[in-house]
Amino acid sequence: MSTAVLFDRYGTVDELYVADLPVPSPGADEVVVRYQSIGVNPIDWKILRGDLADRLPLAMPSGPGVEAAGTVVAVGPGVTRFKNGDPVIRHGRPGTYRLHEMVSTLPEADELTPMPARFTAEQAAVLPVAAGTAFSALRQVGLGAGQRLLVHGASGGVGLATVQLAFLLGAAEVIGTASAHHHGLLRSMGATPVEYGDGLEDRLAAYSPPDASVDCAGGPQPYATAVQLINDPARRVTIVPESADMQVPLVDHIPKELPATLSLIGDHPFHLPVTGRYSLASAAEALTVSQKGGVGGKLVLLTGS
Ligand SMILES: NC(=O)c1ccc[n+]([C@@H]2O[C@H](COP(=O)([O-])OP(=O)(O)OC[C@H]3O[C@@H](n4cnc5c(N)ncnc54)[C@H](OP(=O)(O)O)[C@@H]3O)[C@@H](O)[C@H]2O)c1
Repeated sequence: MSTAVLFDRYGTVDELYVADLPVPSPGADEVVVRYQSIGVNPIDWKILRGDLADRLPLAMPSGPGVEAAGTVVAVGPGVTRFKNGDPVIRHGRPGTYRLHEMVSTLPEADELTPMPARFTAEQAAVLPVAAGTAFSALRQVGLGAGQRLLVHGASGGVGLATVQLAFLLGAAEVIGTASAHHHGLLRSMGATPVEYGDGLEDRLAAYSPPDASVDCAGGPQPYATAVQLINDPARRVTIVPESADMQVPLVDHIPKELPATLSLIGDHPFHLPVTGRYSLASAAEALTVSQKGGVGGKLVLLTGS
């Protein structure tokens, strides 16, 4: 038997329940993956809440989770890209809060990527949303070597990935807004931390103007400072849909985002701090912590396998 965290209707974490399910059998071009680690993201509680119901209607029962890492344990007919025992990263479509999942291996489905040996399953599971989104955002604003970047929400999952990838792209300076208690973390990654909130504009004025900005927080202040400090709208981006418009465009995810991101990371140092670990049965607790904010890294569900 296997386990999955499901919900039958949109709502709060009270809608979540743990179901015992048979281990699936793979069909043509599919594999079954047994997950070791599953990333927890704000998008998970937004999907559960029904925020995306208009553009991404879910068949019920459904489940949260858009990323995970584990091992291929069964291979269906026609599969050539993966074999039993392969470590893989799953990304994209919702439903990863489970122990086993059937996953398409078709390149056009773009759901499965080989896990580089350098990553633990825990680190691999949190790469798709954080590092993938950061990479697309940096590509969109055209960050180049020697340039200065402003990152709003730099201490969050996507923000910390943005800081690290910006330096891999050759950024000369990364200024990151965050709560004061996350400033040490940002400094350890080479960024210059600045506290958000009242007086932010004055604090930012102490630094040379950035060439580009990535908003990983949303809201009026990141929007206003991006418009104030950077002339060209093409060099501003937000990852928060509610904060996007023509002046600060929404991130446009590039095709094959995760493989491209992994190519940039290569063997360079790259690490996302994991500040909370939960079992599948405690998924509701993990989502509540994510929704409260102030995580300072990533949360994961561990299956113990
Ligand atoms: N469009 C996409 O594809 C996409 C992809 C990924 C995420 N997202 C969205 O992007 C947002 C961030 O995701 P995440 O995973 O990085 O979340 P997260 O880990 O919870 O990080 C949130 C960040 O926002 C900061 N923050 C909170 N209030 C702020 C304010 N008033 N001004 C500046 N910063 C503030 C937090 O700083 P402190 O903790 O230091 O206070 C933290 O750095 C979420 O809304 C998520 O749904 C969108």
